[in-house]
Amino acid sequence: MSPHEKNVARDVDTPAIIAAKPDVIAPANTKKVFIKTYGCQMNVYDSERMADVLAPIGYAPVDTPDHADLVILNTCHIREKAAEKVYSELGRIRKHKEQNKPDMKVAVAGCVAQAEGAEIMRRAPVVDMVLGPQTYHKLPEMIAKVHRSSGEVLETEFDTIEKFDQLPKHRSVKGFSAFLTVQEGCDKFCTFCVVPYTRGAEVSRNVQQIVDEARGLAAQGVREITLIGQNVNAYIAEGPDGTQWGLGQLIRHVALIGGIDRIRFTTSHPRDMDDELIRVIGEEPKLMPYLHLPIQSGSNKILRAMNRDHTYDHYKQLIAKIRTARPEIALSGDFIVGFPGETELDFEETMRCVEEIGYASSFSFKYSIRPGTPGASMHRQVDEDVKQDRLVRLQELLYTQQEAHNKSLIGKTLSVLVEGAGRKGGQLFGRSPYLTGTHFDGPENLIGQIVDVTITEAGRNSLVGVLAR
Ligand code: SAH
Ligand code: SF4
Ligand code: F3S
Repeated sequence: MSPHEKNVARDVDTPAIIAAKPDVIAPANTKKVFIKTYGCQMNVYDSERMADVLAPIGYAPVDTPDHADLVILNTCHIREKAAEKVYSELGRIRKHKEQNKPDMKVAVAGCVAQAEGAEIMRRAPVVDMVLGPQTYHKLPEMIAKVHRSSGEVLETEFDTIEKFDQLPKHRSVKGFSAFLTVQEGCDKFCTFCVVPYTRGAEVSRNVQQIVDEARGLAAQGVREITLIGQNVNAYIAEGPDGTQWGLGQLIRHVALIGGIDRIRFTTSHPRDMDDELIRVIGEEPKLMPYLHLPIQSGSNKILRAMNRDHTYDHYKQLIAKIRTARPEIALSGDFIVGFPGETELDFEETMRCVEEIGYASSFSFKYSIRPGTPGASMHRQVDEDVKQDRLVRLQELLYTQQEAHNKSLIGKTLSVLVEGAGRKGGQLFGRSPYLTGTHFDGPENLIGQIVDVTITEAGRNSLVGVLAR
């Protein structure tokens, strides 16, 4: 993965598609694996870990399927479009296999694998292996089975703890910013969402394992760690002192690791935002002033129907507390328009919520019916053209706020983690504390360093600046 791509925000309604470590060149005598990643950060992390599992059995990652011996699609089931993309990709892979690489093996991993299981092999016979998100440590065994019997292999068991215990201790990373999974799964059962079914119940990794992994990343030059989980602030595990630690304490502990200068965490649920975490947001200088805290809708009626278990007022109070603790914090959110029963009035409450709160960045989606979720069988589904119209109106407001936030940074000096060369010669690219892509001129030896950049120009999606003296 090129350092540029690593933190690229998902396009609205278009999952990030990132090949695992594309610029690693496979030696001639090793086998080649092409991993294509769809969906959220959890999948990006899992793809890197699959590459780690495969390295000892001779697989090197490559950036195209052209000469790959093994292709893995790490899939996302969150919206219909995301899931359908997998089948069109499998169609292309089947053609490539038939025409050029008949001995190639094909695996489907991730959330579509968990949700659809053996159905995938029926619909796409090119698939040799289907493996759910908790089974990646079993990949070598599954590959061996496929080669032995030339039959199909299906693994969709849930055992998160075993997965983390069995994954290789060593992570091989490139770049200066890395994801680290600390929590998986979801017990919230929002009525629109597949995640509780594809990722299972909430499970937290133990503190020591996380700290060891973070130290290993620091030793490889990583400067910024994003602690990730489907409900990362539901993190709860026994700390070294024998008491139960929440995410706040975990962050304080990770902040002690030398070499790690920036910490982020995502995705949080308003329900799990406790006072200790808010204190840490206010006190921990290594924690970046950027918080992704989805609300989904500004209407209490819709929030109830979504089973979000919080009201708009509760959310607003939380934001007020967080802003008191850390006044410069930039907020990011997720929004769904056209949930069943959403009237024009409900939608206007979402617009009012955005106006009142103010977001520096956001992800907004049209409600997508997911089979098996309670939302799918609710009455008063909203027409597609109404959804589309509301999405356009909401995004217009959100993008205006995003641009205004970026413009408010002009003249300010921000710390930027330099991730690599920019597009133009002599230019560098990095990320601001607010995760904004920032371009400026500077020498290549600054790559991997955190430098001060004075912002001179701002667009909706990026900043331009000059090195501060
Ligand atoms: N655990 C995180 C992320 C969930 S998925 C959270 O609770 O925020 C990321 C986003 O996808 C969600 O926040 C929601 O806005 C969106 N999403 C989930 N299911 C959806 C669906 N069926 N239709 C449209 N958007 C959906
Ligand atoms: Fe999905 Fe809700 Fe869980 Fe987030 S909290 S993963 S939206 S069920
Ligand atoms: Fe998609 Fe699964 Fe993540 S459904 S958003 S890849 S948890």
